[in-house]
Amino acid sequence: MVDGYFTGGKESLFDYWQDPERAKKFKSGGSRVSAVRYLLNKAEVEIHQGTWIDTAIGAGFVQSQLFQTVEPSLLVGVDFSRPMLELVDSEVERVLGSTFSLPFRKESSTIVTNIFCLSDYPDPSTAFEEYARVVKTGGIVMFLDYSSEDEYWTLRQQAHSEEVVGNINLRNPDTIKQFLPKMLRVVLNIILEAETSTDSFDSRIELPGTLKRAFLFVELYKPRGS
Ligand SMILES: C[S@@+](CC[C@H](N)C(=O)[O-])C[C@H]1O[C@@H](n2cnc3c(N)ncnc32)[C@H](O)[C@@H]1O
Repeated sequence: MVDGYFTGGKESLFDYWQDPERAKKFKSGGSRVSAVRYLLNKAEVEIHQGTWIDTAIGAGFVQSQLFQTVEPSLLVGVDFSRPMLELVDSEVERVLGSTFSLPFRKESSTIVTNIFCLSDYPDPSTAFEEYARVVKTGGIVMFLDYSSEDEYWTLRQQAHSEEVVGNINLRNPDTIKQFLPKMLRVVLNIILEAETSTDSFDSRIELPGTLKRAFLFVELYKPRGS
């Protein structure tokens, strides 16, 4: 096994995310910033002072970008890692819990997001069903992740083979479709592309000066009567 990467199922993933040093690294967004800005612009259009549940909030990097543009009346961040939640800013309501079993009532939030987490899981359908349950009628669910088109993960795969990349489930607009809940309507299912400098990358493999990143972005809407 390549040192420092997880293998196996949900239990080892849980341990992987309990490391306080890893939590500190996730406080900054690195090359994910452009994709997250795209999501925040969508949220700005949709939210109209509603509530927002961010599942797998991590160390709160997304929220450090958020208040420049969007101001939800309530922002709740859920994560199963205490070290991660401890780094989240105090204006966020922090909840220790799982994205596969959200501790919220049906129809409780205007926006529900999951950002850079579900590629950890071979089958994210339970998580999507949970998002469909807790989002309000007329509300939106947004999902952002790494994708199979991404140059960084392609290079990692070449360097480490399936040993590492086999543990991350990289998807694209076609392969994510099978997991999306029928009760939500697909608004967008696209790849966001960004060219990034690798100067700030903390990588164990040799990288070119710039990389083409490709992120998967999905926006779902909960229609009336669903
Ligand atoms: C790659 S980090 C992303 C964090 C944050 N969304 C961001 O973009 O910076 C993945 C996060 O998902 C959390 N996580 C993974 N599986 C989870 C689950 N089943 N329930 C709750 N949190 C989970 C981990 O603890 C970690 O904080």
